[in-house]
Amino acid sequence: MNIQVKPGKPEEVTTDVLILGGYQDETEPMASVHSLDRRLGGLLTELRRSHEFEGKLNQTALVHTRGAIPAKRILLVGLGKKDKLGLDHVRQAMGTAIKRIRQIGAPSGAAVLLGVDQLASSIVAIAQAMVEGALLGSYRFTAYRTEPSDNDKTVKRLTLLVEDSGHLADAKEGVRRGHVAGEATAYVRDLCNHPANVMTPTRMVAEAKSVAKERGVRLTVLDRRQQEKLGMGGLLGVARGSHEPPQFIILEYTGAPKKERPIVLVGKTVTFDSGGISLKPSENMEQMKADMTGGAEVLATVRAAARLQLPLHVIGILPATENMPGGRAMKPGDILTMLSGKTVEVQNTDAEGRLILADGLAYATRLKPACIVDVATLTGACMVALGQFAIGMLGNDEPLKSQLKTAGEQSGERVWEMPLWDEYFEQLKSDVADMRNIGGRPAGMITAAMFLSKFVEEYPWVHLDIASTDWSTTERPYIGKGPTGIGTRLLIQYLLNCVDEKGR
Ligand code: BES
Ligand code: ZN
Ligand code: ZN
Repeated sequence: MNIQVKPGKPEEVTTDVLILGGYQDETEPMASVHSLDRRLGGLLTELRRSHEFEGKLNQTALVHTRGAIPAKRILLVGLGKKDKLGLDHVRQAMGTAIKRIRQIGAPSGAAVLLGVDQLASSIVAIAQAMVEGALLGSYRFTAYRTEPSDNDKTVKRLTLLVEDSGHLADAKEGVRRGHVAGEATAYVRDLCNHPANVMTPTRMVAEAKSVAKERGVRLTVLDRRQQEKLGMGGLLGVARGSHEPPQFIILEYTGAPKKERPIVLVGKTVTFDSGGISLKPSENMEQMKADMTGGAEVLATVRAAARLQLPLHVIGILPATENMPGGRAMKPGDILTMLSGKTVEVQNTDAEGRLILADGLAYATRLKPACIVDVATLTGACMVALGQFAIGMLGNDEPLKSQLKTAGEQSGERVWEMPLWDEYFEQLKSDVADMRNIGGRPAGMITAAMFLSKFVEEYPWVHLDIASTDWSTTERPYIGKGPTGIGTRLLIQYLLNCVDEKGR
């Protein structure tokens, strides 16, 4: 989609569909469209008075303008109650609008800046949210369809109309950010949608190679021999049951001097999680092709940092493998010696994410990081605790946690904190090794994070459990059914905020 920012008034723009917002509980069109309404002979007022358009969040009304203004049609989209308006409602409204435009087969749309009169957010943030909503609302995965469908229509051009010329530069910056962040999320959705027979650890390396073509990005891949030499017992243990060779992928983006302590992102990259010998039930097992979401998000975030040329030093780490049963697979009771030197008794081979992450995190500490953020589809318990709308967050550093909370609010990919108290480690004690890899049924999300905490030393660290949010079972305004890529924009927003803080 080509996205532009143009100065101008809604009654002057030439487009197929002019997108306007409207609040709930208002009986008149808002003041900003009064002159437009006059040109249309009171059409907007009539839609309000007849209650055909009430402004409920994501409600739409489409009308033809029949030559009264250059725009061929007007699409009203509801923003919900005025005093409840948040940035994510703007994102949703744009997702709704773009889908409606696609439905009618119109190739272009133009939107006024939604919610500027009400939101405390900056113009940059509003424009960014609008573009994210539009790009993600129009996302589809068609790589394996061999027959055309009526769903193939796309909106080719979107214009953001800026009435106040003082807002022009900020709107353009917002579009730039929104474009990169939206594309990053779409990229993650693609990687997660590809089936596991395609998206193998080796294919993840190929994807990392494509990311390494961006300016300032360097790729290192450790193969099985190198992993053995270093002693990555966690990754190697999980990979034993698979014919696919494990890959340890390191992507370094140096937008700031290499000597600056890096922000290290670690992503769980299990390209298929069958459970291993502790085999999962077959119902919904196909969704485990997306158990590499964390890794995909790290990949996409590094790509976004490079595309935005952020002045940061960022390193992405992806321990990548399949988790399969097989004659050589690790067995319950096996003891692994991890990269950090600690030993782990594997009591359940399906708790594999923490095993590979332990090596990823231990590797991260060797880089003397400013902080570590890991992102992983780690526990079913996270889904039980939080449902579809919050990412689980646990960590050892208050400032870092609060930065991620803020980025979550801004991006609409919100996190919810769980406690990481020492008492929970009791559940991970083993009779034969330093720890075991499961902690029983209670507090499953916490014990998984507690396990990880043993591999980060004293570095500021946050763990994001995205098992709750990575797969949507419902169709939402800018999130379709299936892989969501949720977490990507959170990480990118966190990096953007790091840049702002540096500048202060
Ligand atoms: N990849 C799964 C977690 C998961 C479940 C992600 C559902 C997305 C949706 C993870 O590797 C796993 O199997 N965890 C186990 C851990 C348990 C054995 C302690 C779980 O949560 O059941
Ligand atoms: Zn598992
Ligand atoms: Zn898993």
